[in-house]
Amino acid sequence: MSSNNKKLIAVIGATGQQGGAVVRALQASGQFKVRALSRNPVKHRDLADEVVEADLNRPDTLQPAFAGAHGVFLVTSFWLEGTDEFTQGTAAVRAAKAAGVKHFIWSTLPDVKAISGGKFDVPHFTGKAKVDRVVTEAGFANHTFVIAPFFYQNLAGAMAPQQQADGFMGWALPLDPSVRCIHMGDIRELGTIVAGAFAHPDQAGHGEYLPLVGELRRSPRCSGTSKRIPTWVRSHATELRSQTK
Ligand SMILES: NC(=O)c1ccc[n+]([C@@H]2O[C@H](COP(=O)([O-])OP(=O)(O)OC[C@H]3O[C@@H](n4cnc5c(N)ncnc54)[C@H](OP(=O)(O)O)[C@@H]3O)[C@@H](O)[C@H]2O)c1
Repeated sequence: MSSNNKKLIAVIGATGQQGGAVVRALQASGQFKVRALSRNPVKHRDLADEVVEADLNRPDTLQPAFAGAHGVFLVTSFWLEGTDEFTQGTAAVRAAKAAGVKHFIWSTLPDVKAISGGKFDVPHFTGKAKVDRVVTEAGFANHTFVIAPFFYQNLAGAMAPQQQADGFMGWALPLDPSVRCIHMGDIRELGTIVAGAFAHPDQAGHGEYLPLVGELRRSPRCSGTSKRIPTWVRSHATELRSQTK
């Protein structure tokens, strides 16, 4: 199939971890033309087949950025100052609908508030979950939800080992040791799930929730100081550190 006949997918967050993984997986599949979206397209000219400006805080940029696209992948950046995930998500859904997008994929997280009966307030989870309904009710021909795990990449980046009380470098995570509660995974693998959903909307395009789970861990096995850090954490962190150097 020539590049002209390939379906075009527009990717928000293309310069980041989730969206970057999606861009690479879509390209590797050979089935899609990829439009990377960024607030600074000039800085990332070679990222994909097309690199176009889009800013979730400027809704007027979104419909042109989605024009002609068959599919849109959306991720929002909770931790970035000024981000309101519901407002941004709603703006993206409206613009995609107006642009005639057929398949919308939203990177969501579970509604912790509802699941815990109001006991826990985790805004970067629950805030994303609130967008799910907007996506569902928009009436796209196909829509899919993907759920990212706790990235292994955190352990070598934002949550890199710190010096512990005994002088060793290590990680300490405040988790209930009796509960297998933390889904971890290599975020680069999210791209394969998203590309698969775009390629098979018949199987994954009717509101399915597709979580990426590399493994489900209990806290004692993912905390400790350097001598006690389990092999799997050491090997992932070493691999990731060497890749990011
Ligand atoms: N870390 C974890 O373990 C974990 C687990 C599950 C979910 N998450 C969620 O993952 C999300 C972050 O994803 P990530 O790690 O892939 O992000 P990231 O690597 O920090 O990259 C952020 C991306 O968002 C884009 N962006 C930011 N603000 C934008 C705006 N106003 N308009 C358009 N694009 C914008 C940036 O593009 P430009 O700068 O090029 O515009 C960039 O590509 C967060 O919401 C977090 O809650 C994280």
